[in-house]
Amino acid sequence: MASTMLSIASATPSASLSMHEKLKGKVKLGSTTNSTAGFIKTKSFGRVSMVAAVNVSRFEGVTMAPPDPILGVSEAFKADTDEKKLNLGVGAYRTEELQPYVLDVVKKAENLMLERGENKEYLPIEGLAAFNKVTAELLFGADNSVLKEQRVATVQGLSGTGSLRLAAALIERYFPGAKVLISSPTWGNHKNIFNDARVPWSEYRYYDPKTVGLDFEGMIADIKAAPGGSFILLHGCAHNPTGIDPTPEQWEKIADVIQEKNHIPFFDVAYQGFASGSLDNDASSVRLFATRGMELLVAQSYSKNLGLYAERIGAMNVVCSSSDLAARVKSQLKRLARPMYSNPPVHGARIVANVVGNPALFDEWKAEMEMMAGRIKNVRQKLFDSLSAKDKSGKDWSFILRQIGMFSFTGLNKAQSDNMTNKWHVYMTKDGRISLAGLSLAKCEYLADAIIDSYHNVS
Ligand SMILES: Cc1ncc(COP(=O)(O)O)c(C=O)c1O
Repeated sequence: MASTMLSIASATPSASLSMHEKLKGKVKLGSTTNSTAGFIKTKSFGRVSMVAAVNVSRFEGVTMAPPDPILGVSEAFKADTDEKKLNLGVGAYRTEELQPYVLDVVKKAENLMLERGENKEYLPIEGLAAFNKVTAELLFGADNSVLKEQRVATVQGLSGTGSLRLAAALIERYFPGAKVLISSPTWGNHKNIFNDARVPWSEYRYYDPKTVGLDFEGMIADIKAAPGGSFILLHGCAHNPTGIDPTPEQWEKIADVIQEKNHIPFFDVAYQGFASGSLDNDASSVRLFATRGMELLVAQSYSKNLGLYAERIGAMNVVCSSSDLAARVKSQLKRLARPMYSNPPVHGARIVANVVGNPALFDEWKAEMEMMAGRIKNVRQKLFDSLSAKDKSGKDWSFILRQIGMFSFTGLNKAQSDNMTNKWHVYMTKDGRISLAGLSLAKCEYLADAIIDSYHNVS
């Protein structure tokens, strides 16, 4: 309960009068704008400043936040008791039995770590050196000139999200007023990240609902029209939520426009190895830009490709035009990280360093990743086959096969997505995205029935 408070109005309500009496001199004057039983909101200098409270919690003015559009789906799924329920909301890999999966290489790396009896001392602010080395090599390729010339500032981050947030803080501090352009649509958290970092953003066209494909002309036009020196956020591979990636030729053209306009490419790589099953193929967009000698930012995540969701392991890489600049940028990234979280966690970093740094484990990882990517490809094919066989309307579902990665963007609108959940117990995000990583071959026919019903019977 509140014991002190602040602003008392000239027309003081009785509840506040009693508070006034209780506080005896702890009250200062302000301009009251409204009052409800027990507390008063005051406005001064244009802000809603404080709440005066009597026998009321100091948190009375805090409103209920809406559930997260992605993680909230999992909460709703847990509460559903229907046996047919399917969670296709969160992008997390499941086995054919729809169980979470811990990779064998991760277990092996953890055993090695236990055998070595490693300690739990703090990491440096920039993270584990062995992790930072392998993560940059995995991304750019070990013999890339950007690494040989020491032009990359790499710091370990709190997975993809934390790495993006750190970069957003760097943009806010060193590029005040610069805009970040994000694709429309994009992963829901991008907007939150830039909003919270107070970085202005706007959208570029990406998805064409008519073709359920890439609106390449729109994308290029919007990147061209952005103020010179903007940050262009690009999904390195397996675009989330659409599963639609530019072709290699289109990537070249995107790089041309970004170079012409002196923009700064900012890659979000959350699915390296998961899109195609090949770590090198999935990094080709980033490598293309780096090979052109461009300065760029790249956030990495090991949530999906190593299944390390809860370990919060990823990295922020800033490619600069000289090693001196890279050293300066790195020092500032550390300076930003220190008051936010001080230093990153060690466990996931050691797992990645052990897997990527050990040739035998690295090969095993690649095989396991191919297996996971392959299972997703199989359910994608089976879903397409089931839809095509069951839907007699002649609708072309082949866009599902052209999409890659964990997701399929079904083109279902909000009302149709609601029908999927309310009638069919299929949990998915309201933008029509389904995670194929949460689907089994056995459930494809059921899902196809749900999609066909929602698509044709709900407007
Ligand atoms: C496009 C994209 N970026 C970043 C992330 C970050 O995930 P995490 O913070 O778990 O690494 C995700 C996860 O779904 C994603 O889809």
